[in-house]
Amino acid sequence: MELLERILAEMSGIEKPNSRPLVTLSYAQSLDGSIALRRGVQTRISNEASARLTHQLRANHDAILVGIGTVLADDPRLTVRLVSGKNPQPVILDSHLRTPPGSALVREGKPWIATTLASDPEKAENFVAQGVELLHLPHDTHGQVMLPELLGCLSRMGVERLMVEGGATVISRFLSMQLVDYLVITIAPLILGGLPAVNFSESIWAESSQEYFPGLGDMVVEMLGEDMIISGMPSWRPLLRY
Ligand SMILES: NC(=O)c1ccc[n+]([C@@H]2O[C@H](COP(=O)([O-])OP(=O)(O)OC[C@H]3O[C@@H](n4cnc5c(N)ncnc54)[C@H](OP(=O)(O)O)[C@@H]3O)[C@@H](O)[C@H]2O)c1
Repeated sequence: MELLERILAEMSGIEKPNSRPLVTLSYAQSLDGSIALRRGVQTRISNEASARLTHQLRANHDAILVGIGTVLADDPRLTVRLVSGKNPQPVILDSHLRTPPGSALVREGKPWIATTLASDPEKAENFVAQGVELLHLPHDTHGQVMLPELLGCLSRMGVERLMVEGGATVISRFLSMQLVDYLVITIAPLILGGLPAVNFSESIWAESSQEYFPGLGDMVVEMLGEDMIISGMPSWRPLLRY
């Protein structure tokens, strides 16, 4: 069976969570776990074949979410242009409406911007005039969009499968809040010494006395050229101490 089919078969066996979409977290990292050379620097990590797999995965999700840090760094289009299929609905996590009005997503993707009830009404009006849908949500103690409320809102808007693509802050937050149902990680044979994909000390994890960390169960591992694709379901494991 082809890798995509194996991954989709695994995903279809996951019971859809109550009142939120099924969340797939997918990103490309170097051997040492970096997703970019530095925060804010767009860095090509995956090869052509794994980039194509990412696009196939996108085509199998209703919506795709990135943080505003990724929009500012990469100006992504989040389309499925390397394969045939339907583009997922782009969603930007942007509490303070920092999305550039001229960004590729605003120009071409008609994104939904998940922002807070406290965001600037004038900026909000300008986005609406550009055909962007704003999702006004409560904010957490960091003044950032509350993720469970966002996921509930997306579910009510008909999103059954959501792909989360980064960047580092968003990856860390979704994992630490245990809001990930399936993980697809591309590992490229590079040592970048750059921005770590996951940093729990910066996430709300640091504020809790959480003793469980995500391991990976029912793993599918395959090489695509020189890239290794590891996918599976997060399983929560206790921290082992010596
Ligand atoms: N290799 C890969 O697969 C890959 C994929 C994507 C990105 N990247 C790289 O990752 C880097 C960007 O990562 P980043 O950490 O700077 O930015 P990010 O994770 O893309 O975005 C983080 C921002 O999202 C906003 N946000 C709103 N609500 C949030 C919530 N509940 N939880 C977390 N964030 C929330 C926050 O800004 P506000 O407070 O202003 O809302 C936060 O600073 C870039 O260098 C990019 O190239 C790599």
